[in-house]
Amino acid sequence: MKYNFDEIIDRQKTNAMSVEGYGPYLFNGENKLDIKHDSKDLIRMWVADMEFAVAPQIIDGIKERLDHPIFGYSGIFESDYADAFLNWTKRRYNWEFNKEYLVNALGVIPALFTLVEYICKPGDKLLFMTPSYAFFKHAADKHNIGYVVSELKCTDGYYEMDFKDIEAQVSQEEVKLCILCSPHNPTGRNWNEAELKQLGDICFANGVQIIADEIHCDLLRGTEKFTPLAKIFPQSDQIITCMAPSKTFNLAGFMFANVIIPNDALRTEWQEKNLPIVNPLSVAACQAAYANGQDWLDELTVYLDQNFQFLKDFLTEHLPKAIYNITEATYLAWVDLAAYFEQGENLTLFFANEAGVILEGGNMFVDHADGYVRLNLACPRAKLQEGLERMVEAINKKSA
Ligand SMILES: Cc1ncc(COP(=O)(O)O)c(C=O)c1O
Repeated sequence: MKYNFDEIIDRQKTNAMSVEGYGPYLFNGENKLDIKHDSKDLIRMWVADMEFAVAPQIIDGIKERLDHPIFGYSGIFESDYADAFLNWTKRRYNWEFNKEYLVNALGVIPALFTLVEYICKPGDKLLFMTPSYAFFKHAADKHNIGYVVSELKCTDGYYEMDFKDIEAQVSQEEVKLCILCSPHNPTGRNWNEAELKQLGDICFANGVQIIADEIHCDLLRGTEKFTPLAKIFPQSDQIITCMAPSKTFNLAGFMFANVIIPNDALRTEWQEKNLPIVNPLSVAACQAAYANGQDWLDELTVYLDQNFQFLKDFLTEHLPKAIYNITEATYLAWVDLAAYFEQGENLTLFFANEAGVILEGGNMFVDHADGYVRLNLACPRAKLQEGLERMVEAINKKSA
């Protein structure tokens, strides 16, 4: 391997959300937080960023920009960034979009919040699938928009959409927008073309637009292929695609995401209401990532595949009642530990207090997540192993 994903990097004193920010985010208002481990000794497997150094090609891109000493207001006036991103989507998913449709946002969450505001009127509702990433609900709540959910069907840890239920939900007059998470956080499903086609057909037949949050689309197990929803419906202007280099290349701190809006009226509204100003270092980093990051991502994929297999083997040996499938995408494992806990138990709190492992339990997601934990496997294997060993020890102690 050219890149060292085993390297353990100390993130203290870097203002890292992962290190300093778990208290307010995971335990806000929680008075039972009583972590037994020293804060330096915590194993962090919660927020979706990586414990790995970024590709050196990205650092080179940033350094090159730093060689020019002026950092005034910046926009994307030349086509280099869009070309790098478009080449990426062409090469990886054989998908091309009209460059005119591309706008940029400070992140996919800010984009979702903005889009829900522009698309939904008072009285409208949005649809998403559960268990769900909580920010889809927050996007509705923020704008006082109602929502309906469709529960994914789970068979032995494998999730599928319930199309009959989705049809029932979108046939309600008020439902105007669906937020699709593809690949899906937290279950890790990489929806296939047939599933995406069926979802799109149902939504469009009922006048429902789709925001496709495809932020995890490059983080696939080695055998998987990703299809953007918009590729399946090339004539439609009812799909807004959100992609970003933040998850793929560990660049979340640069706050830069791609939003592809084919609908002219919606894109015009976006352009009129959002200043097209960007951080010049973000553009340099993200452009370098798309242009030169492929071989780093290839090696990362191999390493993550091995981490997923490691987790599978570990659970089989030490927690045989856990239900877990190696997920098709994301670096997040979704593990059903309900057999070891009471219904409604707060697993986020339990593992923080008893194991010094910071993870996201089912309480951090919307619906149908009780008894689950989401583990971020984008960390050196030694850390993963230690975290898992501590989790097993805590469970064994509890049931002794
Ligand atoms: C599905 C999904 N969308 C959006 C985000 C966050 O996007 P951003 O950091 O670009 O706002 C995450 C982060 O975990 C995510 O899992």
